Amino acid sequence: MSMASGDTIDRIRGFWDADAAGYDQISGHYPQTPAEWAAWRGALEPLLPRAPSRVLDVGAGTGFLTVAVAGLGHDVTAIDVSEQMVARLAAKASAQQLAVTAIQARADEVPRERFDVVMSRHLVWTLPDPEGTLRAWRAVAPRGRLLLVESVWGEGQSASDWIRARGRRLARRLAAAPTGHHAEYDESIVRALPFAGGLAPERLVELVQRAGWKTPRLRRLTGVEWMLGRQLPWPERLFGTQPVYALWAG
Ligand SMILES: C[S@@+](CC[C@H](N)C(=O)[O-])C[C@H]1O[C@@H](n2cnc3c(N)ncnc32)[C@H](O)[C@@H]1O
Repeated sequence: MSMASGDTIDRIRGFWDADAAGYDQISGHYPQTPAEWAAWRGALEPLLPRAPSRVLDVGAGTGFLTVAVAGLGHDVTAIDVSEQMVARLAAKASAQQLAVTAIQARADEVPRERFDVVMSRHLVWTLPDPEGTLRAWRAVAPRGRLLLVESVWGEGQSASDWIRARGRRLARRLAAAPTGHHAEYDESIVRALPFAGGLAPERLVELVQRAGWKTPRLRRLTGVEWMLGRQLPWPERLFGTQPVYALWAG
């Protein structure tokens, strides 16, 4: 690990420590209703092995994937670089009596154990070395599966996605709705991240293969989009949700 990447990780950690308290405010970050949880469970369950399996959630944040997947009967180890995020996740898991181990750790320094699944949502864009990190995950799940849950945004968007995203942003601004983040990454962080501007599904497939994961599959999570879209306030609802998809590979 270079000094430069260590500095970047420290700045990223500071950002997410400050973000943790407000992160769960919007449904794009954390489900707000039983119906949203149900839609997510319906999307995730067919993508996982039969429970109980050993699952590693990387960049687990406040615990969205961890809580959903532990709730389906899997044993989840959750890691995140941010102490504040890990504290929130651990509190949720303990309140819900879920089989979860929560650890503060970097995404490229995963526990040296064996996992059936390595999963992550909304992390790859903020990794300084996404390919090397995905390779490190392969090493702890040589016979297991990768499951990435992603949204399409920024440079990954099609023209029509872009127009809808502009409409949504305007509607949220007019309604003074919370964005779910306390700030944006500063330039010094953005410069160190190859996908800080967004990552198209096509590029993610290539990246995953280069990192040693075989036979990637893509699926748009329309059930999740449907439920998130139904719960958007007006006039934001006119523009629908960001595309949400899963990539899994063996
Ligand atoms: C956009 S949030 C996603 C959180 C969660 N996966 C979710 O879906 O809500 C990104 C998370 O990745 C964590 N993170 C960022 N860089 C990381 C790294 N290099 N190693 C471990 N965690 C990291 C942050 O602390 C933050 O909790």
